[in-house]
Amino acid sequence: MYDADPATLASLDERVGRALARCGTPPGDVGVITARITSAKNLADLVPRVDAVIEAVPERLDVKHLVLAALEAKVPAVLPIWSNTSVLPLTEVAQGMQYPQRLVGVHWWNPPYLIPLVEVAPGAETDARFVQEACDMLDGMGKATVRLHRDVPGFIGNRLQFALVREALHLLEQGVCDPGTIDTVVRASLGLRWSAVGPMENADFIGLDLTKDILDSLAPHLSAAGTFPALDKHLSAGHRGRASGGGLLDWPAGRGEEVAERLDNGIRRNLLDP
Ligand SMILES: NC(=O)c1ccc[n+]([C@@H]2O[C@H](COP(=O)([O-])OP(=O)(O)OC[C@H]3O[C@@H](n4cnc5c(N)ncnc54)[C@H](O)[C@@H]3O)[C@@H](O)[C@H]2O)c1
Repeated sequence: MYDADPATLASLDERVGRALARCGTPPGDVGVITARITSAKNLADLVPRVDAVIEAVPERLDVKHLVLAALEAKVPAVLPIWSNTSVLPLTEVAQGMQYPQRLVGVHWWNPPYLIPLVEVAPGAETDARFVQEACDMLDGMGKATVRLHRDVPGFIGNRLQFALVREALHLLEQGVCDPGTIDTVVRASLGLRWSAVGPMENADFIGLDLTKDILDSLAPHLSAAGTFPALDKHLSAGHRGRASGGGLLDWPAGRGEEVAERLDNGIRRNLLDP
């Protein structure tokens, strides 16, 4: 593990230990597991004898390009490099690489120790062998791995998620409801349904004729906006959400921790009782 920020590297054991505790790892095993993780103070000191290298630096093309160039100077060409990008097209992430055929998009979901899904996608030049190898390794770790046929910004999950966020902001801008109501609607209906039956199975379940009738009538009213005044208004007032104490909702002290715990517990409940 390498990170440009020494404080982040120094807190590695503590943060991994916290995640292990959330997974229910017995306290006696935590040290054994964290001892298996080696950190390097310089990228050049990374051990090249690995099965795959995972890039998880900030979601900016210039930073990814810088780090990939440094990695390629160190890591033998036969090794795959997995990019953890959330929405950048893999083909653009791979631009400038010496061996772009080894770059595979491997998108985990937060919290990765609980969410089963990992989305795997190729860039335009990725060798299919590396994509298959990534899927096999992730399957071996017990993840629910899905493989995209081609490179698209946002993989599948974030495209679906942000289509819904865009429509939610549109409803706010249209004065239909307040932000808390959006959350109530999703948590008390769609959120409950979708962990059991996905939208494609549901379309067949209710009937494709009804699905088409609904879409024909509703689609013209759904947002196709590319600007988001409901967010701009908050951001220009310095309201960034949890980090600044307020955003779409109020974030008094302690709410962040409560949400993180509720998220973990809710996911765990769904996993236990699918
Ligand atoms: N946060 C999420 O929920 C989430 C989920 C899935 C994927 N991702 C993706 O993972 C990647 C990282 O996101 P994050 O939320 O963990 O970001 P983050 O900012 O929390 O962490 C990025 C880390 O990269 C380090 N870094 C910055 N520049 C570096 C450099 N040049 N060399 C080495 N290390 C450097 C930073 O010090 C920091 O510790 C992004 O591509 C993001 O889209 C994030």
